[in-house]
Amino acid sequence: MTTYKIALLPGDGIGPEIMAEAIKVLKVIESRNDVTFELQEAPFGGQAYFDHGDAFPEATKAICDAADAIVKGPIGLSHEESKKIPVDMQPERGALLPMRRRYNTFANYRPVSLPKSIAHFSPLKPEIIGDGIDMIMVRELVGGLYFGKKEVGVNAEGLRYVNESLEYDENQIRRILVEAFRLADRRKKKLHNIHKSNVLKSSVLWNEIVDEVKVDFPDVEVIHMLVDAAATHLCLNPGQFDVMVMENMFGDILSDQAGGILGSLGLMPSACQGPEKSYYEPSHGSAPDIAGQGVANPYSMIGSIAMMLEMSFGMEEEALNVWQAMQAVFADGYSTPDLARGGSSNLISTSEFGDKVVSKLKRT
Ligand code: IPM
Ligand code: MG
Repeated sequence: MTTYKIALLPGDGIGPEIMAEAIKVLKVIESRNDVTFELQEAPFGGQAYFDHGDAFPEATKAICDAADAIVKGPIGLSHEESKKIPVDMQPERGALLPMRRRYNTFANYRPVSLPKSIAHFSPLKPEIIGDGIDMIMVRELVGGLYFGKKEVGVNAEGLRYVNESLEYDENQIRRILVEAFRLADRRKKKLHNIHKSNVLKSSVLWNEIVDEVKVDFPDVEVIHMLVDAAATHLCLNPGQFDVMVMENMFGDILSDQAGGILGSLGLMPSACQGPEKSYYEPSHGSAPDIAGQGVANPYSMIGSIAMMLEMSFGMEEEALNVWQAMQAVFADGYSTPDLARGGSSNLISTSEFGDKVVSKLKRT
């Protein structure tokens, strides 16, 4: 019997509701495998700041440090609520980025998966979706503009100014590229390298390292694409992509665009891997406007569990079962109100959706 310690950080807004459904799924997996999941919940995010004076309290850090993996819900508050917290302690700057830095989670995987069962959520025309979309965005997560030097002040002419720098060294670039090449090698052997080397020196260095790493992956075809062009191609012909790799800020923006292609960021879980620890989180925000109503879909949270099962615990088959259970619920015509378009779906609540996933899962 293997025991895994999992830190659960429900977060803000819809976080606790969708986390409750993810826990149901974990219980099913535990009940039929030779594993025990030791679950420990901890405060993290905006509410944690109000309750404990810190969006990433020391006690939460200790729980995360001791955990084998971390499952994190969305964080963030409404614009009005955020303003009650000092800028540097707001949950994104005060909890999420420190979490990424603490565990050095440099590799962020965001699957953009639109099988037939959920194709009706996409705003794209059926002829563009074709047989479905199945790609994965690999985003560098602990470098670039997010973590570069920042300076805010008043210059010699008396004008307020800001200076934020985009910093990478070659090791930071190489390690994310190696992960992306490995993934491409296991999949369709096609890697889209997303950059902006016609303007940014950081992309020039990035592309030099691409050429160097490529030597070790002779079977992987590299397609170079400027980030702005990639935004267009994602809309016009998303089926051409399989694995895409890019730096932090490009990945932030293009992955949200990919959420738009799916019809909702609620359909995009993610994995953030570091050398020693990984955490798993939905790619979307905490949606304070619909919190507490039981209308949010738990797909991205349950999908994050599936990614953890596969990537942290090597339970590939159960991970696949979880994906298939969720897709089977959609294929039966069910949806939660947040995703539904045009009233075509049979609407159920967050917890009813979770229950249906659980009953499908139990049958596999
Ligand atoms: C994401 C989010 C975060 C980011 C925010 C919440 C800081 O948008 O994970 O994509 O910008 O990385
Ligand atoms: Mg984002």
